[in-house]
Amino acid sequence: EWTTGSVIEEQVERIRAQIGEGTAICALSGGVDSAVAAALVQKAIGDRLTCVYVDHGLMRLNESEQIEKAFGESTGGAKLIVVDAEEQFLSALAGVTDPEQKRKIIGREFIRTFERAQADILRERGVIDEAGHAEAKAFLVQGTLYPDVVESGGGEGAANIKSHHNVGGLPEDLSFELVEPLRALFKDEVRAVGSELGLPDAIVWRQPFPGPGLGIRIIGEVTKERLDVLRRADAIAREEMTAAGLDREIWQCPVVLLADVRSVGVQGDGRTYGHPIVLRPVTSDDAMTADWAKLPYEVLGRISTRITNEVAEINRVTLDVTSKPPGTIEWE
Ligand code: XMP
Repeated sequence: EWTTGSVIEEQVERIRAQIGEGTAICALSGGVDSAVAAALVQKAIGDRLTCVYVDHGLMRLNESEQIEKAFGESTGGAKLIVVDAEEQFLSALAGVTDPEQKRKIIGREFIRTFERAQADILRERGVIDEAGHAEAKAFLVQGTLYPDVVESGGGEGAANIKSHHNVGGLPEDLSFELVEPLRALFKDEVRAVGSELGLPDAIVWRQPFPGPGLGIRIIGEVTKERLDVLRRADAIAREEMTAAGLDREIWQCPVVLLADVRSVGVQGDGRTYGHPIVLRPVTSDDAMTADWAKLPYEVLGRISTRITNEVAEINRVTLDVTSKPPGTIEWE
């Protein structure tokens, strides 16, 4: 019989058997899958798990702090290393406007940063010796779900992967074994397990958010100033949707800054020349297809009034009424 309690017990036993006295590392993304996978492994092996959160500076308002706090508290202080890499990511993105280019750069910088953190952890734990050779294998925790397993053609879990060559200072003779405690679960089951483990709703019910973050929600070059403008607008939109009780109805609502577009407006006794933002609320079951969400006019009105009043750089709020296909959910 399937109960969250029995799933947790069974997985904790399996994780203990797999990792033994080994050292495990997990990259937290802020999403539910990696958080639940990490919480299970932490329950199994305690502080021989180290979680790494790479703060690329492209998260929403106060989001990194919230992830750190919520995860730390609910797991009873799991070992978590937060790497502040904002400057590194922003300088790598300077001058870049092409969406695929942005994704590539963000992915590359993420791997570099994560591998550097891994190397530090493994040296500290004695898995890598001072000369830079591997003394043991290490375990890498991933929040792979059942649909991911099916999509990638199945196969057994616990595969060994070689480390990349010298991207982030890991020795070539190091091998990682994957720990994937969610491989048999669907999303709703992962949420149930997360709740049972005591993770807060902010993690368990978090809407999807892309890995490249706000980097792909600024149409044009990504700069700190533009990110700050988008963060303030996005926070207002999310606050109003939450207040209206729409969080579970809406799949997600990207807020997109048209940074290279300017529009004329009028406010008080003066003409403004600001930027438009786009609200992109969608409903969906799996993000493969999506419908534009018919948000209540009152909610849209409140979001529009507040954003144009509270974010001086924005003088126009627009609504995206395109389904997927033909539009993707994100604008880039
Ligand atoms: P699209 O825009 O392709 O998005 O309709 C489908 C879902 O995937 C998310 N998304 C991403 N997630 N890295 C991610 O981790 C990405 O590069 C990426 N691009 C889109 C998007 O938010 C939506 O939930």
